Amino acid sequence: MKVLFVAGDPKPERWTVPIKELLPEAEIHVWDANGPAVNADYAIVWQPPAELFEREKSLKAVFNLGAGIDGLLAVPNLPPHLPVVRLEDAGMSVQMAEYVLHQLLEASRGMETYREQQREGIWKIHRPIKRSDWPIGVMGLGHIGKRVARTLADLDYRVNGWARSEHDLEGVTTFAGADHLPNFLQSTRVLVNTLPLTDETRDILNYTHLSQLMPGAVVINVGRGEHLVEDDLLRAIDDHHVARASLDVFRQEPLPSDHPFWQRPEITITPHISARTLRHATLEQITGKIRAHHNGQSITGIVDTSRGY
Ligand code: GLV
Repeated sequence: MKVLFVAGDPKPERWTVPIKELLPEAEIHVWDANGPAVNADYAIVWQPPAELFEREKSLKAVFNLGAGIDGLLAVPNLPPHLPVVRLEDAGMSVQMAEYVLHQLLEASRGMETYREQQREGIWKIHRPIKRSDWPIGVMGLGHIGKRVARTLADLDYRVNGWARSEHDLEGVTTFAGADHLPNFLQSTRVLVNTLPLTDETRDILNYTHLSQLMPGAVVINVGRGEHLVEDDLLRAIDDHHVARASLDVFRQEPLPSDHPFWQRPEITITPHISARTLRHATLEQITGKIRAHHNGQSITGIVDTSRGY
């Protein structure tokens, strides 16, 4: 069995050494842009070049080194029937839950105020929060969205969840489909986006939707930059309808140095770190699936390419 590693890491051995340890029966190759075809059976990829699918004609499945497969599905020449397998959690959802909780608490517990007071040497106690003032709405109820929603519900926040299809999640009020999006938004103050990026979800965080949130809204985007219409967020902030936003993903990454978001005190910017790919957990999962697939067993995480996730 031949496995081809295709990701723009300048030190691919960080990946290929553990892959070989986890999958000793395989021959491991690193993508060489100028090299010949290796006739790989499986490819492990992150944002691969289009030439991959022109050159490698024996692939039986392609494994994405991330949860979001929008980048991979956009690669021209991706053979329509080639199974595409996304990462399933692999230590990401707990990190996302932490990140979202942190950003929520900055707002709900007014942490910035206490930092300002400290700078001035002021000891002043503010009123305790009412959880009922901070209803949260999680968009997307996959592995990540569910974990986020459950974590916040366990802390007694009121949590709504919205997804394309029906979901049943203990302690979470769920809404399904476009028809119920307005109800979901109107009962949400802290909007958390964990949706996959598809043609249906692109630009979903737009002015029309943001302005339906409860006043003093908080937007936390850990999905993809293309979910958010950037000017619409600025407009909603200028309207004082959205009070703050925590953004981990952007249309252009790295965020250009002259981007207006950098100058906005209402916006917290992090460089796509809300959930890092944990190498060992990731490779354990992927190599386990490669072995299973090679042995003719069924595997989970195969993307429905017509749906886009
Ligand atoms: C990261 O953004 C991922 O999709 O895993």
